[in-house]
Amino acid sequence: MGYPKKEAAGPDPQAPLFLLLGYSQSFYLPKRPRVADNAHMPNMSTNSANHGIPLSQPNISKLEEEMVLEVLRSGRLSIGPMQERFEELVAQRCGTTHAIACSSGTSGLHMILIALGIGPGDEVITTPFSFIASSNAILYVGATPVFVDICPTSLNAHPGKIEQAITPRTKAILAVEAFGNPRHMDTYAKIAAKNEIPLIEDSCEALGTVYRGQRAGAFGRAGVFGFYPNKQITTGEGGMIVTNDDRLADTCRSLRNQGRAVTGKGSVAAGSGAGSWLHHDRLGFNYRMSEINAAIGVAQMMRLDELIQGRNDAADLYIERLLDIPELILPTVDDDCTIMSWFVFVVRLAAGYTREERDRVIAGLRIHDIGAGDYFPCIHLQPIYQRALGLPEGSFPIAESVSQRTLALPFYAGITKQDVDIVAQTLELMVSRENLSRRN
Ligand SMILES: Cc1ncc(COP(=O)(O)O)c(C=O)c1O
Repeated sequence: MGYPKKEAAGPDPQAPLFLLLGYSQSFYLPKRPRVADNAHMPNMSTNSANHGIPLSQPNISKLEEEMVLEVLRSGRLSIGPMQERFEELVAQRCGTTHAIACSSGTSGLHMILIALGIGPGDEVITTPFSFIASSNAILYVGATPVFVDICPTSLNAHPGKIEQAITPRTKAILAVEAFGNPRHMDTYAKIAAKNEIPLIEDSCEALGTVYRGQRAGAFGRAGVFGFYPNKQITTGEGGMIVTNDDRLADTCRSLRNQGRAVTGKGSVAAGSGAGSWLHHDRLGFNYRMSEINAAIGVAQMMRLDELIQGRNDAADLYIERLLDIPELILPTVDDDCTIMSWFVFVVRLAAGYTREERDRVIAGLRIHDIGAGDYFPCIHLQPIYQRALGLPEGSFPIAESVSQRTLALPFYAGITKQDVDIVAQTLELMVSRENLSRRN
């Protein structure tokens, strides 16, 4: 802390921001490219003085470059040793017997649901406060997502509401660690066991998190990680299923590889009979991960501790800097979370702020070349879900109230203290401007 929150005389809320912040105009050149609406797309820039502060940024070192070169020079670009190495590293980290690399977190979820035999007429309980992919996978298999409201602190599905939502048609709980927060995962596992249904863990946002001695991904029958470039580790695009269930693992290995029967870690037998390349046991997909993506993944896994530490450092900087701003509610981490692997840093405007005010704060940050995102709009209110399920506004009051007041700030391993300061000061001014305009 220790930063003066306001200038002694009090800032003029209408003054240009660069004057309020005490930056030279060179920080505030209007001709610089603005952070676009698709600000969730990682901006590769590293120098805020020239290019703004991106919402997210992959952390790629020489090691990733070397590993990719190794693959390119090997001539083996798909289904090779790099994928196996990547799978081993993830399985080791999660303490599971299997890890199955795939093309994305979404394809991983899709395969798990198919492998569990979930289909039309089945219900899967899940959260409305997530990235849309977690529910889309349920629609892909023709099942019905049954949303339950969230806990306002963890932002994960409320365990009591999950129990209430269980019916004879419930075939699984699909839980999400919102923004990497693992709270309730052990409780979900108990509810699933008690009701003899599988827990599917959408851990796309939580690689590396440890909660009550258990690793994210390993709480349920199967878990899945995503490696889009804003994640803790990236492969460009990619995903990974983890499980201790041998049959489920084999089915997923087959599903990702056009329904071929697979042996061992996914190799295909020679010849033309069962188990060969042109023999297909089931309706499968091309959900494979290339060796090039896997090479990036191996290098990133070798650096996972460093990357998690970098994200923790960034979170600490934000918490220290934002803690005393009364208009903001900061994310909290449960004491039982011994390793928190932050995905994004999402703050919430205090109760009473409206969606429009939150959107103005986001727009204001973007005008100043600071990436900001409305993580996450409620899934049930998305147009496609309105058409599919028609759940009215007000169905999940906590998720809706949280969702209209949350905003994601620039966050990645290696963000500088100077950039965090710029974000914090700008945000503080934006929220106090909103505050002032509400009172006037
Ligand atoms: C909770 C959650 N589930 C699923 C996904 C989908 O992952 P992918 O983009 O790799 O398909 C994401 C990605 O952001 C996510 O955050």
